Amino acid sequence: SLAWVAALSRDYTWVEGVPFLSTTTGDLGALRDGFVVRDGDIVTVSYPKSGTTWILEIVHLVHTRGDPRWVQSVVSWERSPWLEKATGVGGINRQADPRFYTSHLPLHLFPTSLFTSKAKCVYVMRNPRDILVSGYHFWKTIKIAKYTESFEVYFEKFLQGEVPFGSWFDHVGGWLQMRGKENFLFISYEELHQDIRASVEQISRFLGTELNPEEVDSVLQHVTFQAMKENKMSNFSLLPDFLMDHSKGCLMRKGIAGDWRNHFTVAQTEAFDRVYREKMAGLPRGLFPWD
Ligand code: A3P
Repeated sequence: SLAWVAALSRDYTWVEGVPFLSTTTGDLGALRDGFVVRDGDIVTVSYPKSGTTWILEIVHLVHTRGDPRWVQSVVSWERSPWLEKATGVGGINRQADPRFYTSHLPLHLFPTSLFTSKAKCVYVMRNPRDILVSGYHFWKTIKIAKYTESFEVYFEKFLQGEVPFGSWFDHVGGWLQMRGKENFLFISYEELHQDIRASVEQISRFLGTELNPEEVDSVLQHVTFQAMKENKMSNFSLLPDFLMDHSKGCLMRKGIAGDWRNHFTVAQTEAFDRVYREKMAGLPRGLFPWD
C-alpha cells in the first residue's frame, strides 16, 4: 500500500543491537515467539551478499529435479519469501508444503520454533572481505539502505557492524553454534565456485532429493553466473523502482571470489585481519575455505 511505501526510509531500526532496513517487520519479537516453523520447511539463511540468491536457485532447481520452469516464471522472493519482511509471513503461509523461505536474521532473533523442528536449514557463508565489497556496491542501488560514496567509510561501518543486519562476525558466530546438527547444512560461496557439481549433489542429498546425472546437469546449466544474470526472475531486475535504483548497479555484479584484493589497500587488509583474528578467536580453525 501507499502508506507502507511512505513508511520506507533509509534510517535503520535497531533491534537488540542490530540495525535493520525499514522493510523489516516492526515486531521481530512477535515473529521470534509466534512464527511456527514446520518440520517440512526449507529455510535458507545468510548474512546479506553471501551468495543467497545462488543457493536459492540451486535449492529450487533441485526441488524441481532440474526443470527450470519454476525459477524462470516466479521471482525468487516469491519462491522463497523473506521471513522478516512485513509481507513475509503472509507469503509463506500461502505456500503448500514444503514451504521455502529465506532469512538474514541473526540466530538470536530467529523464530525459536526452528530449534525444536526438523526443518532443513541451509546456512550460506562467504569470505567477509568479498561480502564487504559486494555490499558496498549493492547498498548503493537500494533506495532504503544507507550508503556512502566512500569505500573507506563503508569499510569502517562494516567492521563496526553498522550495516544492514549488523555484524558479519556476530551473524556467523551465532549460526555456527548449530553446526553438527543434522538438519543444518553449512556451505560456502567459495565451495560452490570450487566444485559446483559436488555442491549441487551435497545440497540434493541434504534435501533428500537425490538426482540422476542428467538432472544434475540441468541444474548446473541454470545456475551459472551468466544464466542467472539473464534470468529476470532471479537477477533483481524486477525489484520495484521505489526499492532499487537499477541505474546504479545490479545484483549479479561480478560473481567471483577474491574481488576484495581489487579494493582493499594494504592498510585495510591489515586492519581487517586484526579485527577478524580477534572476533573469530573463539572458533576452531579450518571452518572456512578462505582462511
Ligand atoms: P558480487 O557482488 O561479488 O558479484 P546475495 O544473493 O547474498 O545478495 O549475494 C550476491 C552475490 O552473489 C553477488 O556477488 C553476485 O554476483 C553473486 N552471485 C549470484 N549468483 C551467482 C552465480 N550464479 N555465480 C557466481 N556468483 C553469483
